[in-house]
Amino acid sequence: MNDLTLTIFGGTGDLTYRKLLPALYNLYVSKQVVNIRIVIVGRRAYDHESYCEVIKPWIKQFVRLPYRDQAFQMFCDQLSYYQMDFTDEQAYLPLQAFYQKHQMNHHIFYLAVAPRFFDIIAKGLHHVTNANMGSVVIEKPFGEDLISAKALNKELEAFFTKDRVYHIDHYLGKEMVRNIQAIRFTNPIFSNIWSHEYIEHVQINAMEEVGVENRGSYYDHSGALKDMVQNHLFQILSIIAMEPMNLYTRDEMHARQLQVLKHLRPVSNLNIEDTMVLGQYFDYQKEPSVASDSQTETYAALRLFIDNQRWQDTPFYIRTGKKLDRREMEVIITFKRVMPDVDPNILIIKIQPNEGVYVRFNIKKPGNSEDIVPASMDFCQSCLDINRINTPEAYERLLLAVMQQDSSWFSKWDQIEASWQYVEELKQRYHKENLPIYDYLSYSSGPQAADVLLSKHQHAWQKSS
Ligand code: BG6
Repeated sequence: MNDLTLTIFGGTGDLTYRKLLPALYNLYVSKQVVNIRIVIVGRRAYDHESYCEVIKPWIKQFVRLPYRDQAFQMFCDQLSYYQMDFTDEQAYLPLQAFYQKHQMNHHIFYLAVAPRFFDIIAKGLHHVTNANMGSVVIEKPFGEDLISAKALNKELEAFFTKDRVYHIDHYLGKEMVRNIQAIRFTNPIFSNIWSHEYIEHVQINAMEEVGVENRGSYYDHSGALKDMVQNHLFQILSIIAMEPMNLYTRDEMHARQLQVLKHLRPVSNLNIEDTMVLGQYFDYQKEPSVASDSQTETYAALRLFIDNQRWQDTPFYIRTGKKLDRREMEVIITFKRVMPDVDPNILIIKIQPNEGVYVRFNIKKPGNSEDIVPASMDFCQSCLDINRINTPEAYERLLLAVMQQDSSWFSKWDQIEASWQYVEELKQRYHKENLPIYDYLSYSSGPQAADVLLSKHQHAWQKSS
């Protein structure tokens, strides 16, 4: 393979420091990536040495593999810091000269910047030879709103080849998200009962302890629905709910996920009050770069339905929020009861912080009793230290996939469009009907109204096992 050049626009941003560079370090140290040159584009006046000093503490803190000074030095030797104002179209001419001087011809461009800059960077790249034969990676949100996202996507696909535009969703790189299909399709004990006939309801919980931290200006325009639901959580929802597919040829995966999104019960047929609860944590309005009268939601709970034969009237509950009492992401499948006084079976796919699978089933109470009591099996994948070292971080997997031109675990535009449209419609109706943004205490489990959303239907948010 020819040497690849990975150029990161936004080289002094949080994403680059926390995720991209540690992932690249891991790939480099584990020798999965050898022929790569990394060009870091940033506005700040660093040179190679000073940039390496800046990133050292981040690498130390966030790498998965053991940090070693010598390895870090070798990794740093792969980096070039290139100072430039990427909003200035003229600045791409010297960038082209730089690439030419270093014989960098095979490109991947990573746009780790706000979506409002995608457009100008794409225009600038017209001045770079062979840029259009390379790949471009973009982070959500893929635009400011659905209309701007559509226009932007059209523009990127007109310049780069369609299948070389990678819409990254880092949840698709997580170990246990990758595991959902294997758990579901290779175990007849689950696959044969994966439908409304046996499943009572599904919950997808994505609780975060952190607040918006230093991302207020981005988050205040986004909110939980755009930040987490329409991308990460709809990806998981569609993997959980999709029709069976062949695990070894993933060609059908996107089409099947899209089918799920297309069968979400139309927003016009929903009682919105019985569908969505939005909340905001106390003191959110005092966060840096957040409007003092902000109505942005930092919490969302949803009750959705997929109107197809498999899922008729099975509720899919989704909740996510910031400043909650724990960091926990899991999918909980509650099966139907077989007898009124017997607990239902439960399957939990634990995504983070622990990775594993929990199953609850029933047994006869040990001893002379004939009572039926619940028992459980709890497989903790992340408890095995060896797995921690062997399991790549989400960004490692996805960066490697881009280098190998494998787009199977990236969002496709039609999925993004369908999710975006659905979530926008939900939000519009919520506001049109003047439903409140409920306050909730920091480090609580969220607004009480979200509990009521379920209790009205004799359900409750499931606590982790
Ligand atoms: C990002 C969101 O996509 O995902 C953040 O923008 C969120 O707001 C983050 O905190 C959660 O990712 P993870 O991997 O920590 O669950």
